[in-house]
Amino acid sequence: MDRLAELRRRHAAAEEGGGAERREKQHKEGKLAARERIELLLDEGTFEELDKLVQHRCRDFGMEQQVIPGDGFVTGFGRIHGRPVYVFAQDFTVFGGSLSESNARKICKVMDLAMKTGCPVIGLNDSGGARIQEGVLSLAGYTDIFLRNTLASGVIPQISAVLGPCAGGAVYSPAITDFVFMTAGTSYMFVTGPDVIKTVTHEDVTKEKLGGAETHNSVSGVGHFIAQDDAECVQMIRELLTYIPQNNRDDVPRRVTSDPVDRADAALNTLVPAESNVPYDMKEVIRRVVDDGRFFEVHEHFAGNIVVGFATLDGRSVGIVANQPAVLAGCLDINSSVKGARFVRFCDAFNIPIVTFEDVPGFLPGTEQEFGGIIRHGAKLLYAYAEATVPKVTVITRKAYGGAYCVMGSKHLRTDVNFAWPTAEIAVMGAEGAVNIIYRRELQAGASREEKVQEYKDRFASPWVAAEQGFVDDVIEPGETRKRLISALRMLETKVDTMPRKKHGNIPL
Ligand code: HXC
Repeated sequence: MDRLAELRRRHAAAEEGGGAERREKQHKEGKLAARERIELLLDEGTFEELDKLVQHRCRDFGMEQQVIPGDGFVTGFGRIHGRPVYVFAQDFTVFGGSLSESNARKICKVMDLAMKTGCPVIGLNDSGGARIQEGVLSLAGYTDIFLRNTLASGVIPQISAVLGPCAGGAVYSPAITDFVFMTAGTSYMFVTGPDVIKTVTHEDVTKEKLGGAETHNSVSGVGHFIAQDDAECVQMIRELLTYIPQNNRDDVPRRVTSDPVDRADAALNTLVPAESNVPYDMKEVIRRVVDDGRFFEVHEHFAGNIVVGFATLDGRSVGIVANQPAVLAGCLDINSSVKGARFVRFCDAFNIPIVTFEDVPGFLPGTEQEFGGIIRHGAKLLYAYAEATVPKVTVITRKAYGGAYCVMGSKHLRTDVNFAWPTAEIAVMGAEGAVNIIYRRELQAGASREEKVQEYKDRFASPWVAAEQGFVDDVIEPGETRKRLISALRMLETKVDTMPRKKHGNIPL
């Protein structure tokens, strides 16, 4: 009986964490406690905690007097929509959620189990960083985690939620994971904080402006999702997981849908404006095509000229990459190239077919882009599409010009099925620019510009030449897009394609 009482006492001490007062402070700041977050994240009653009784081993700075079972990290496994996942959560009420040698080992333990069992890992971050009292032992712990993040990349999905501070080198664990969620107003990430910046560069910047959820979701691109609070954040993580497989050997999830596979949508036939420089919303195209109009957008607030996210077609997950004519005319630039490339590589790593909707006038011109390395960054998107061996299907809705035609899932990058709408314009460049170059002399000699533009448009601003060459497999009625995509994807379900043997490629980073 004494033993049982001792067990219960130890468990209760672990659950108490840093105590009611610190928990209250956490609540006042609009944050949940670590265990509360895990409870909301996982299916009810499925959480099994590991290492609840682990203690730190620090004997410096009076730490031997301050020992809390579990040492401030809650780790274990449970289920989301019935499928197993591993989870760790940093408890800010215990030494500010700081990472000790002991709780680094706890994280490594669940990551190792996740790798062996082929399950996603979800990290709920809320931490003051390396446990200062432990010095290099804590740094070693971080680095052990970074190594595992890297080895697990492309094998199991890794998801990070940043729900409080995440600073210094600690940011690099979320950065290596596949998706970073942040909460508005309560989370921040930076390598060096406002005080250091003030000393070194004399810049004045707040924590929020420097590394808050909005900054990372819309400016730096470090964050993929922004949630209003912890509860919404964990619900978004649950939804994301419905689209992705458990590991790189697993099939994509299938869900039941009542949306007919042959559902036609006449509105698509008139959605692209007659004037080719008039914008329209590509997200409307996506929603009209996918199952039940449900599109789970990733990186929504960053580089809006490209749209990426998950949906299902015929109940099966697909990754969607689409140019957005409503933002920067759908031009590819540095940020959109990197955003698209990372998403394509995630899909390819996890067997998720890629559906591309293309309307792109080309790469964004300008010194800012050239000096910023658009050559190197644009090449990432090209590289990602080229190396992807999952089923790939492309629909050209309107413009497919120049290098951007090549990049956006063209036939030449071993895309399996390429469709074009009759509104497609597939050429080296737009008519105005082309006429200036190829008819320069004629125009100088007084030829009608209008006539020459029309002549060029008749010949090239269409899908016909590409279709004659077999570079598009068919020109389809826009209203039939859903049906045609589904039958292409069904046909491709057994696709096998490979890469040449190599250690790894050298993507232009
Ligand atoms: C030990 C820490 C800690 C840390 C906070 N605490 N950070 N204990 N190591 N890194 C403790 C505090 O002493 C305090 O204990 C409790 O956590 C809550 O902290 P507060 O400061 O009261 O909270 P708040 O005002 O909300 O401020 C949060 C904070 C601040 C901004 C995170 O605590 C802070 O600046 N901490 C230090 C951050 C830091 O410099 N970390 C090292 C970064 S370098 P009590 O007992 O009073 O409740 C790094 C390198 C990683 O992490 C390298 C990887 C390779």
